[in-house]
Amino acid sequence: MRSLVVAAWLLLLLPTRFVVAVKEQDFKKCDESAFCRRGRTLAHRAAEHVTSGEKWKSPYSLDASTIVLEDGGSRFTGRVRSSLYPEIKFELDVRVHEDGVVRVRMDEKEGLRKRYDEAASWALLKEPVLSPSSKWSVGKKEVKVVYGEKKDQVEVTVEFEPLVVRMKRNGKDQVVLNGQGLLHMEHFREKVEENVKKLEATDVEMVAAEGEEAQKVIQLPPNAWFEGDTEDGLWQESWRSWTDTKPKGPESLSLDINFPNHGHVYGIPQHATRLDLPTTKGEGAFFDDPYRLYNTDVFEYLASSTTSLYGSIPLIHAHSADSTVAVFVSVASETWIDVAHPTQKSTETHWVSESGILDVFLLPGPAPDQVFSQYAKLTGAVQLPPHWSLGYHQCRWNYVSTNDVRSVQKRFDEEDIPVDVFWLDIEYSEDHKYMIWDKKNFPDPVDMFNDVEALARKMVVIVDPHIKRTHDYPVYKEGQELDLFIRNKHGSEFEGWCWSGSSAWIDFFNPNSWEWYKSLYKFNGRNDGKWSWTESTGAVHIWNDMNEPSIFNGPEITMEKDSIHYGGWEHRDVHNINGMLFVNITSQAVKERTTPYKRPFVLTRSFYAGAQRFGAMWTGDNLGTWEHMAVGIPMVLSNNIAGMSFAGADVGGFFGNPEPEMLTRWYFVGAFSPFFRAHAHIDTKRREPYLLAEPYKSIVRETLRLRYSLLPVWYTAFRESTVTGLPVVRPQYVVLPKNEPGFSIDDQYYVGASGLLVKPITEAGVTETTIYIGEDQVYYDFYSGHAYRGSAKGKNVTVPAPLERGPLLIRGGSILPSRERPRRSSALMKRDPFTLKVALSQSGSASGELYLDDGESYGHREGNFVWREFVAESTKKTVIISTKDLGSKNPDRAVDGVELATYNGGNAFANALNGVRVERIVVLGLKNRPSKVTLGNTDLEFIFEGGVAAVGKKEGVASKLTVKNPGAFITSDWTVVLGL
Ligand code: NOJ
Repeated sequence: MRSLVVAAWLLLLLPTRFVVAVKEQDFKKCDESAFCRRGRTLAHRAAEHVTSGEKWKSPYSLDASTIVLEDGGSRFTGRVRSSLYPEIKFELDVRVHEDGVVRVRMDEKEGLRKRYDEAASWALLKEPVLSPSSKWSVGKKEVKVVYGEKKDQVEVTVEFEPLVVRMKRNGKDQVVLNGQGLLHMEHFREKVEENVKKLEATDVEMVAAEGEEAQKVIQLPPNAWFEGDTEDGLWQESWRSWTDTKPKGPESLSLDINFPNHGHVYGIPQHATRLDLPTTKGEGAFFDDPYRLYNTDVFEYLASSTTSLYGSIPLIHAHSADSTVAVFVSVASETWIDVAHPTQKSTETHWVSESGILDVFLLPGPAPDQVFSQYAKLTGAVQLPPHWSLGYHQCRWNYVSTNDVRSVQKRFDEEDIPVDVFWLDIEYSEDHKYMIWDKKNFPDPVDMFNDVEALARKMVVIVDPHIKRTHDYPVYKEGQELDLFIRNKHGSEFEGWCWSGSSAWIDFFNPNSWEWYKSLYKFNGRNDGKWSWTESTGAVHIWNDMNEPSIFNGPEITMEKDSIHYGGWEHRDVHNINGMLFVNITSQAVKERTTPYKRPFVLTRSFYAGAQRFGAMWTGDNLGTWEHMAVGIPMVLSNNIAGMSFAGADVGGFFGNPEPEMLTRWYFVGAFSPFFRAHAHIDTKRREPYLLAEPYKSIVRETLRLRYSLLPVWYTAFRESTVTGLPVVRPQYVVLPKNEPGFSIDDQYYVGASGLLVKPITEAGVTETTIYIGEDQVYYDFYSGHAYRGSAKGKNVTVPAPLERGPLLIRGGSILPSRERPRRSSALMKRDPFTLKVALSQSGSASGELYLDDGESYGHREGNFVWREFVAESTKKTVIISTKDLGSKNPDRAVDGVELATYNGGNAFANALNGVRVERIVVLGLKNRPSKVTLGNTDLEFIFEGGVAAVGKKEGVASKLTVKNPGAFITSDWTVVLGL
């Protein structure tokens, strides 16, 4: 049987046109996973109990006599008991952090074995600082802490019996743990005897009353009301041809997390579904199966499903018009989450994880911005990417030779299409031994890199985690000598199949692997003279794929859960963080091979909470269909709100051959994604933009130019994200958190704080669309300047959506900096002049920001950057547009505590930009033609095209003032006065 399986997977290694699509049924549903079944049936039992009128009560309670206040009172510990197993000890540890986040940990104490408790140490940036002032007080029925401003006070109570944790604000429940009594931490136990069902029911003969027949009744074991009456997959379970042995026995964890006053939940990426998570439970549930978090390589995934995908972030936002809170569950094992809305205004979620301690962070909000900063404080903000990585990336599986790369680059230049990065997929390598060149087709890799770099571009090369098991591969040979590979359940080297055939996987949980692995990237050679990737350069960055890990002959295409990692942990304990360790080490390796360090770019497919500190992610193998194009948008938004701002989906779809209209629309989606890369499967036809026929080619060229012209906006948004933790792309509920009708909208979004509102078209044949404006504000069509009016209640406006112009509005009140000279790559724009587009608000004002630095070094950490503010203010007779440095606003630290340099406008980088002009100022929405426009004493020439004013209620093309060459510079302070 096993040889059949291997043979089937060998097929995968053949040219993929022979591959049969893997179906959804190749991945588990909840009822095919024993611990999920156990958790979900527990919830069913509880629900039945309640509907039958009996009260369901959690067996867990906190023993008040054991409570100890620690760390000055901001933390307490205490013993938890379960009435089911009174002899088992659980310890509860609850802390208040300095920013009001509450951490609840529970673990079994003095148990037979140990639960994995290190997920947080990988996810968190550092150990959080506890609150110096919030103190727990122990009462008769609960432990309680109250903190925060009077009007927005948070109260957290931990009730003794049953054990319930409640976070309230202004007397209203915000988050409740175990309110439904589904908390269950399966304790470690001895395996009594194979196949013995310890909970077996017994027949008991009842004594009959006189004249009646004696009856047999089944007496259930005492714990059956809670745990059921049969053991289910506690020590072993089989699925398809696989047997998962569980030497540690059961240790799953169930917990209900409810949001009684929040009707919308978002997050827990990654799933292909709507942003506002549809229900999986309750009447009329949208999905049948819970959301699954288990990093897997799902081939041809469905465009609407709760199936797990490549990455997992156990963070959920709960939102209502008056409150946003979030919960981060730091667990690394497979996890399933049911979502239900018992009423329109409330949400119940039920989390079931296979192993690990309970480690839950309650983020009190109370608004989205605070939730973002609370989460970034915990897990870190996104890293500031190299500027070039916000340009356009051209990838395919594969560019087949060094000359192929050269000719692709040439074609881009001949067609005047901007591009920053060319990518090499796995076929560059000899027999899929990554970092070793296939010299037949790639005889001169360093020359190729240099040719690309000579035209101010970069390359990204793939390095996967599977290591071909052959001793002529130095990475394998050394890895084996150093004993760094993951082991199978028998204790020998784990072997699995991937692109490289028989492969091994480095165990990055083993700290001995880190320095060694990083040294492999040294292109100047290693100190010890051993092999390193010398045929590489500092302009090469890295793509980490298949790091879930993807294993073709493994269960659900991944690693057997009973494989063993460093420290004796089973793979099941660490599965969801495994891929993040790979990108963590890779990003350090890429950074450390340059002197002085340059910012690394690493793209990862697998990720976990905290991965935003290491690189970008993409949504994996999407299909070239309209449906997949559409779902990519909420997927990117969902990743953004969960910290992974640098996100994108393969433009064009990985599989299939998108028709030109679809591809053209997809370029617009990509141009408005934080990470913008076109990619295609090896079997697809070539589809680089220059191959498109007209008019598509010209439209795509313009879309790419639009992306490049707005790079200042994107880079500024990324900088803001690194400082505040706010996402780079923002859905309605984030920008307008009080506007209820916008809460479920996920097909339009804002770019940073720029005021750009985009709604990509994801259907064929569309010529116009509606955009929702959730506030009483004027919004301008980016291209025509047409002014639309929203309303406080929210309003749909109809906007043109021809193929040439993806729907894009500017929110009144914004000032957009752009660079409008078409260039072949972003590096060539460094000294290009700026255009400032001032979109006046209904009250006649506007503001905007611009962040610039050298785009690749860490000089910004020494204060070498430009950060400017632009402001427009109206009086009766004037509109005054001015700019100044934001030095005084520059915080000392980013939200995650990373120190920021003092900013002074006269730094070396800013000085080097002296002389870079503002070449155009455009003002939309003036009431009338200015009588004069001046900068200091100089009268400026201008063109005024009459139209609708920002102030008022009229719709139609807005008035437009254009001042060319105002004689202003981007790094200097100036004031332009429009006399009305
Ligand atoms: C799977 C990745 O998702 C895809 O993008 C890549 O092209 C193939 N692996 C081959 O490396």
